[in-house]
Amino acid sequence: MQERFISPQVSNVEYEQEVQLRPKSFNEYIGQKKVVNNIDIMVKSALKRSAAMDHVLLSGPPGLGKTSLAMIIADELGSQLNVVSGPAIEKKGDLAAVLTNLSPRDVLFIDEIHRMHISVEEILYSAMEDYRLDILIGEGASARTMQIDLVPFTLIGATTRSGLLSNPLRDRFQAHLHFDFYEPKELATILKNNSHKLKLQLNDEALSSISQRARGTPRIANRILRRVRDFAIVENSDIVGEKEVEKALSLLDIDNLGLDSMDRKILKVIHDFYSGGPVGIDALSATLGEDKQTIEDVYEPFLLKNGLILRTPRGRTLSEQAVEHINALR
Ligand SMILES: Nc1ncnc2c1ncn2[C@@H]1O[C@H](COP(=O)(O)OP(=O)(O)OP(=O)(O)O)[C@@H](O)[C@H]1O
Ligand SMILES: [Mg+2]
Repeated sequence: MQERFISPQVSNVEYEQEVQLRPKSFNEYIGQKKVVNNIDIMVKSALKRSAAMDHVLLSGPPGLGKTSLAMIIADELGSQLNVVSGPAIEKKGDLAAVLTNLSPRDVLFIDEIHRMHISVEEILYSAMEDYRLDILIGEGASARTMQIDLVPFTLIGATTRSGLLSNPLRDRFQAHLHFDFYEPKELATILKNNSHKLKLQLNDEALSSISQRARGTPRIANRILRRVRDFAIVENSDIVGEKEVEKALSLLDIDNLGLDSMDRKILKVIHDFYSGGPVGIDALSATLGEDKQTIEDVYEPFLLKNGLILRTPRGRTLSEQAVEHINALR
C-alpha cells in the first residue's frame, strides 16, 4: 500500500508514541459522549453485580479511540485486559487456548474482529452466550462434541466495518457502540492536553487550525502535533502559532479542508477518469491501485461525512463542493 500520512497502519515507533498520548481514564477520554455514557453505566452495573460486564462491539473508522477505550474499560473494571487481533488467530485451538486461560471477569479484546476466520469465529458463539466451549472431536459417525466450561468474561470486539460482521456474531454482543468523527472543539481539547504532555506551547489559533484539519481523528491530530513540535524545536520557537502550523501542514501536504494527497487523488480520479461519477468501488480501486477495503474503511468515511463524495446505488459521485475544491487546486 502507498505510504501516506493518514495511513491506517501504525508503525512500531508510532505505537510507542501513541502509548505516551493515550488517555488513561474516562477523565482524559474526550468526546464520544454517547459511547462513554453507555460504557459508564455498563461498567458500574457490572461492578455492582460483581459480574462480568456485557459483551460490547465498538465500531468506527481507524484512530477514533476504540483501543484506548477498551483499555480504560478493563482498568475501570479492575480486570486484566487480554488483546488479540482477529486475523492473527489462524486455528480454532488458538482461540480456545486464549479463552480457557482467562481469569474470571477478564476482558478479552479482539481487534479487527470482522477479519476473523469464520471457522475460528464459531468458537465464540457458545463462549459468548453460555461461557462454554463446544469442541467437535473426531470425524464422521464417531464424531462427538466435548463441552468445556469457561469463566465469565467480557468480550470487546473492535471493527472498522461492523457491516462485515456475520449475523450470529453481531447478535451476541449485548451493546453495539459506534464511534463518530470528533468535532474540532473536542480535538482542540485533546491537543491542548497533549501539548502539555509534550511540553509544547501552542497559541489558540494554532490549536484551532490543527483541530480543523485533522480529519476529525485524534490519531491524526496527534501526528500533526508531533510534526509541529519538531518544527518548533528546529526553528527555536517558544510558542507555536498559526504560522508554524501552516508550514508544518504544508510540508505534510494537508490542505485547507484537512485532505491529504490521497484524498485529493481519489477526488481527482473520479473527476478526470469518470466525469465526476457515478463510479463503482471496484473500478475506482483498480484505477487508484489501492485496496478496495482500505478505500471504504479509511478514506471514504471522511469524504462522505463532509459531503465531498456521495454514495448512489450506481456508485460514488462527486459533490459540487468537491469539484470546486479540485478546480481551486489546479
Ligand atoms: N477520546 C480520546 N481522547 C483523547 N485521545 C484520544 C481519544 N481517542 C483516541 N485518542 C488518541 O488517538 C490515538 C489512537 O486511538 P486508538 O488507538 O484508540 O484508535 P482505534 O480506534 O483503536 O484505531 P484503529 O481502528 O486503527 O485500531 C490514541 O493513542 C490516543 O492518543
Ligand atoms: Mg485500535
